[in-house]
Amino acid sequence: MLYLDNSATTKPYKDVLATFIKVTEEYFANPSSIHKLGSEAEGLLNQSRKQVANLLGVLPNEIIFTSGGTEGNNLAIKGAAFANQHKGKHLITSVIEHPSVLESFKQLEKIHGFEVTYLSVDENGTVSCEDLQKNLRNDTILVSIMHVNNEVGTIQPIAEIGQLIKQFKNTLFHVDHVQGVTKVPLNINDAHIDLCTISGHKFHGLNGTGAVFIKTGVHLLPLFTGGSQELEMRSGTESLAGNVALAKALRLTTEKAEKQLKIVKETQEKLRSELMNISGVVINTPVFAAPHILNFSVPNLKAEVLIHYFGEHGIYLSTTSACSSRRSTVSHTLLEMKKKEEVAKSAIRVSLSVDHNEEIVEPFITTLKNGISKLTKVMR
Ligand SMILES: Cc1ncc(COP(=O)(O)O)c(C=O)c1O
Repeated sequence: MLYLDNSATTKPYKDVLATFIKVTEEYFANPSSIHKLGSEAEGLLNQSRKQVANLLGVLPNEIIFTSGGTEGNNLAIKGAAFANQHKGKHLITSVIEHPSVLESFKQLEKIHGFEVTYLSVDENGTVSCEDLQKNLRNDTILVSIMHVNNEVGTIQPIAEIGQLIKQFKNTLFHVDHVQGVTKVPLNINDAHIDLCTISGHKFHGLNGTGAVFIKTGVHLLPLFTGGSQELEMRSGTESLAGNVALAKALRLTTEKAEKQLKIVKETQEKLRSELMNISGVVINTPVFAAPHILNFSVPNLKAEVLIHYFGEHGIYLSTTSACSSRRSTVSHTLLEMKKKEEVAKSAIRVSLSVDHNEEIVEPFITTLKNGISKLTKVMR
């Protein structure tokens, strides 16, 4: 089996699962309970918060545990918009954000009367800083730009964007770092980021875990109200075992990435050069991109058909983003990058984990070549 769908989700590390089971068995008490077992659970929760904060280079009381990237993005975006609307109702994002960001903005626009500017992207999927500068206003209260695009791997100029936003005192900067964390370095403080989302299952943690960085002094309206857990930002009894597992996965993957990312990048480059030699293949990922994503199209073949062919040969990959892959066959990101409709319709994403190396290239390329030859004949 060759699993090349790591941007959709990663396989949890065995150590992470072992931690989850151990904590579930031994620290089952509610961290809010005042007895000894509760205090021990609370101690462990705080330790995990500290570990996540250290790994991200921020303060422990700036980390809120969530159920994943979708919740984190909703909390950061809607929470910031609702809490700061007295300063203005203008928001900025880009046209190629993840649906959990785009749909949050659409809801704020359509139901809550906010004005949203959607920045376009160039043929590499990059947002223009000049464009952003032109659109920033004194009543802009939030800008949300993803670090790494989930479909093509484009890296946005987050540090430059942060510099621009810093000049506007009413404007908060949110970064969806779900695809970037452990793959592409990001200094949250240097980039003047106020809000940042990560998701555990993208770095060998568990589904249903995640975290949001909320810079000290930034006000959000909580989406969940109740028992005031998570520094009053997210009510609900904490998933202690999930959060400890998230901290462990972040540590293990960060450590691995230090040694492995160069190999992942070399693997991606090798794949790219092999794909370039196959006639009819169009590569959609820009040359300067995150090391783990490579998106390409075979314009005369339906992506789903090729993906099923790969599946029959034990290789697993995706069309575009996992959330949209069952709903739509056209990649909105590729259309926004001005790719032709037949390219956007046939896009396939290979997404590597930090554990991959060049060994995957040969079986993948051989299967692709065989698939193209067989399926093209069938379609003739
Ligand atoms: C860039 C990006 N943001 C947000 C999400 C949503 O994360 P989750 O699946 O943890 O809700 C994803 C998931 O694919 C993603 O790729």
